Amino acid sequence: MQQHDVVVVGAGLAGQRAALAAVEAGRDVAIVTKLHPLRSHSGAAQGGINAAVGAEDSVDTHIYDTVKGSDYLGDQDAIEFFCREAGPTVVEMEHFGTIFSRGPDGSLARRPFGGAGFPRTIYAADRTGLALLQALWERLGTERFTLYDEWDLIDLVVRDGRVQGLVALDRKGGEFQEIAAKAIVLATGPAGRIYGRTTNAHSCTGDGVAAAYSAGGYLKDMEFVQFHPTALLETSILITEGARGEGGYLKNASGDRFMSQYAPHVLELASRDVVSRAIVTEVLEGRGFTGPYGGYVHLELMHLGKEKVESRLQEICDFCRNFAGIDPVTEPIPVYPAQHYMMGGVGTDIHGATNVPGLFAAGECACVSIHGANRLGGNSLLETLVFGKEAGVAAAAFAASAAKPALHESDLEPAVAPLRGWMARGEGEDPSTLRTEMQRIMERYVGVYRNEGDLLEGLKQLRAVRERFDRVRVVDQSKVFNMNLIDAIETGHMLDLAEVIIVGAYARTESRGAHSRTDYPKRDDAKWMKHTLAKRGPEGPQLSYAAVGFTRWEPKERVY
Ligand code: FUM
Repeated sequence: MQQHDVVVVGAGLAGQRAALAAVEAGRDVAIVTKLHPLRSHSGAAQGGINAAVGAEDSVDTHIYDTVKGSDYLGDQDAIEFFCREAGPTVVEMEHFGTIFSRGPDGSLARRPFGGAGFPRTIYAADRTGLALLQALWERLGTERFTLYDEWDLIDLVVRDGRVQGLVALDRKGGEFQEIAAKAIVLATGPAGRIYGRTTNAHSCTGDGVAAAYSAGGYLKDMEFVQFHPTALLETSILITEGARGEGGYLKNASGDRFMSQYAPHVLELASRDVVSRAIVTEVLEGRGFTGPYGGYVHLELMHLGKEKVESRLQEICDFCRNFAGIDPVTEPIPVYPAQHYMMGGVGTDIHGATNVPGLFAAGECACVSIHGANRLGGNSLLETLVFGKEAGVAAAAFAASAAKPALHESDLEPAVAPLRGWMARGEGEDPSTLRTEMQRIMERYVGVYRNEGDLLEGLKQLRAVRERFDRVRVVDQSKVFNMNLIDAIETGHMLDLAEVIIVGAYARTESRGAHSRTDYPKRDDAKWMKHTLAKRGPEGPQLSYAAVGFTRWEPKERVY
């Protein structure tokens, strides 16, 4: 059995930054990841990373924009810390070799992003995540840690009041494996594949969040699901907010720039929840376009000119040409909102510590909480680096004084027995059918707009799918890259999280940020200025609530 001081699960930006911090603290570090690190979903982040670096901008404005964007549910102490770290973090990544786009004077180029009072999104064309990922991977250096590449997390082992290690499946060899760890950092990224329409990669199945939930961790604010306003119709490939930041317009089927009705001051650059609701409303009220993939609106870039579109939005051009057969230089892009980001996740403090001793989390799988009810574009890449580093430092410190983990050979069997059962079954349910059914339910009943009737119906249907999952069958008996088995593992994880999302959304009888209840259309600070905490119970998620952290900003109505 392998043993390490710090095991990081996930190798995107948060995981790599955590590993780098733990390596630099002198600990023996391993990364467990289901994908090669350079294929992580961080590489799909397009538009940029926020930092108030110029003389005209200020850290306070960044803090205020983030607090307002969160609809006042973000913890202000955490947001203050986060925004203060932004400048040093971007400069560090620049020194690590990130090739950021530059302005005419050679300074870091910045573009406007939604909900920001100043153009503070620093970028590398529309491949910012990829540029950061490559620079960080080179900095980390493969010889300084152990890489368990193409290993899937199955379970965490928690005993005697602390983390002892984890159980994983080695995809390549098909063996179940145990790794003992003094501290574990979860950095498994998004869970967007819970939904049918998502900008997230197929790998984004919330494995770390589900494992923490099973191990007794609190999940925080899971009902807050972000829908990115502009996903390419049919495929839901992300069309970066940078496209609107560069001056793109949204138009309905009558050719109106409809955002003037919803956000008269900043139009297309309102925060994402506002723009997504506007698009869905246009379509629901019959002012959108219709087609075989449902309603949609147009994102127009034609007026920006070929040179600007092709230089600043290179990937967008490729995506539109290759996946939709349209040229954004001369034609409008058909777009509709798709799930993009989970504001909720494993509850942590600003150092990544969870309620389970020895278990840390960072990046999208964590909820610190800095995004509250709605995240601003450009704050996600920053989050991975700021809190990845914090979690790595804290995990290294924990490991330095922790006793040797007590993981035993006998810990393997309870974790993998259900999986062996799925493979031994003569008949049963196909995991991909159950996954598709879950995605349909979440799409239909737990989308941009919600109400009591839909949420109850969604919960009923989802619980029926969870019951069917008890009879899941893995037909493929092969050892090597058994994607049928991996599908079942991931679907089980997502079903747990989908239930937490719905239960939290049903309980929260108000509208705040991305959680928009048509039956409770107003924000209700008196009753709901609080975080939702979900713990796994015998009958499903058990909810409790925690106070929001305030420093300097009193809640007021959010207007863009
Ligand atoms: O629109 C985008 O480029 C996405 C950025 C983000 O989610 O932060």
